[in-house]
Amino acid sequence: MSKNSYSFERSQQLISRLHELVPGGGHTYSKGLDQFPYNSPQLIKSAKGAYCLDVDGNRFLDWAMGNRVFILGHGDEDVNDAVKAAIDQGVNYTRPGLLELEVAEYLLGLHPWAGMVKFGKNGSDVTTAAIKLARAATGRKLVAVCGDHPFFSTHDWFIGATQMDAGVPAEESGWTVKFRYNDIASVEELFARYPGQIAALILEPVKNDEPVDDFLQRLRDITKREGTVLVFDEMIAAMRFHPLGAHHLYGVQPDLATYGKAVSNGFSFSFLIGDKELMKLGGLQHDKPRVFLLSQTHASETVGLAACMATMRKCIAEDVSAYVWRLGRQMKEGFQALAGSVGVADHVRIIGFDCNPQILCTRADGTYWPELHTSFHEEVVAAGVLIPWISITSAHGHTELERTFDALRAGMEKVNRVLNSDMDVVSTYQGEAVKPVFRKYN
Ligand SMILES: Cc1ncc(COP(=O)(O)O)c(C=O)c1O
Repeated sequence: MSKNSYSFERSQQLISRLHELVPGGGHTYSKGLDQFPYNSPQLIKSAKGAYCLDVDGNRFLDWAMGNRVFILGHGDEDVNDAVKAAIDQGVNYTRPGLLELEVAEYLLGLHPWAGMVKFGKNGSDVTTAAIKLARAATGRKLVAVCGDHPFFSTHDWFIGATQMDAGVPAEESGWTVKFRYNDIASVEELFARYPGQIAALILEPVKNDEPVDDFLQRLRDITKREGTVLVFDEMIAAMRFHPLGAHHLYGVQPDLATYGKAVSNGFSFSFLIGDKELMKLGGLQHDKPRVFLLSQTHASETVGLAACMATMRKCIAEDVSAYVWRLGRQMKEGFQALAGSVGVADHVRIIGFDCNPQILCTRADGTYWPELHTSFHEEVVAAGVLIPWISITSAHGHTELERTFDALRAGMEKVNRVLNSDMDVVSTYQGEAVKPVFRKYN
């Protein structure tokens, strides 16, 4: 239904080849063919600021920013300069490097609640390390995860509890149990059902909703009472809600917190930070059983360390979080006004916090409608805007916002036309509707 002025000739040839060579045609399932309308860019050649360019030379305004790994936009010059300077000093040494000490001191200075920090390359490295540490410290097996939050790790303790659990022993899947966000009764119920068995409770401190009835503080109290390690996963929230993470805004301290994604503006880096008594179990200065806590060939690579320090320093100095909150508010207000004026407010919604909004295409009862999502986004992409999820950065400004409103209007007008006709939504886009990543079969 939508007319795409782009040509994807080269993209189509190359993406087919990539699918022949690489399972899933890439290295992150959420970037897969089944996650985007057919007319989305297939293979990206380069990106700068708020824009990306595909191999056919088509240019898109990018709000997704990888898997939300940017806060200063693609290719920020200050971060790149810091990384280049680090490269010139050598990227990986035979013994620990000076930069490891400098970044540890910097991060612990920012997080005075924590006593020690350890580095990784991906978010999953550090969430899994937090779980291992909690199991080692408590001698317990079970992990309680927030079932409303989509992702914590590529490792078996989490993947085993999803639909896509092939290859994970059922026994391990059974060790992960779930509670609901803002539902303290579901948390109490887990502790009543598994007394003395839950090693860790992990959640994003906030996702799309405000914590109600002191939810975070009550989790803190319950986990203390039960001797369970409380882990806040700040992977998405940090830098957007606040450079130190969302928990900082609510004044509730976990035992361990995990950071990655935007903390290093696209470079590969993550860190686990937290309570000294727990963290030192991964070290050499105790007489308890040794915990293999994050020992990775590339964790001390200087590129990620330099990128993290440069990103955090710049974001704090320029108060980028405040900018993200402001631009996000303008996006939400403009979106809601548009949806109202086009008459699709019950179907094309923007939810979540101003600093981290999400577009949601729904049936009238508010449930997610993947076919409508595909139809809507096909039109938005045809207008050159890639907005499957939203990562506002300092590289996005009013020009990008205005261009996005034009694209959103086109998408909303299409939705309005479709819903006010006897057309089946499925006939209003090419190819297949987007599918959930976590499904049993293709
Ligand atoms: C909240 C959260 N935690 C952990 C992860 C895992 O991070 P990574 O993909 O860097 O391993 C993600 C990734 O999307 C995430 O969103």
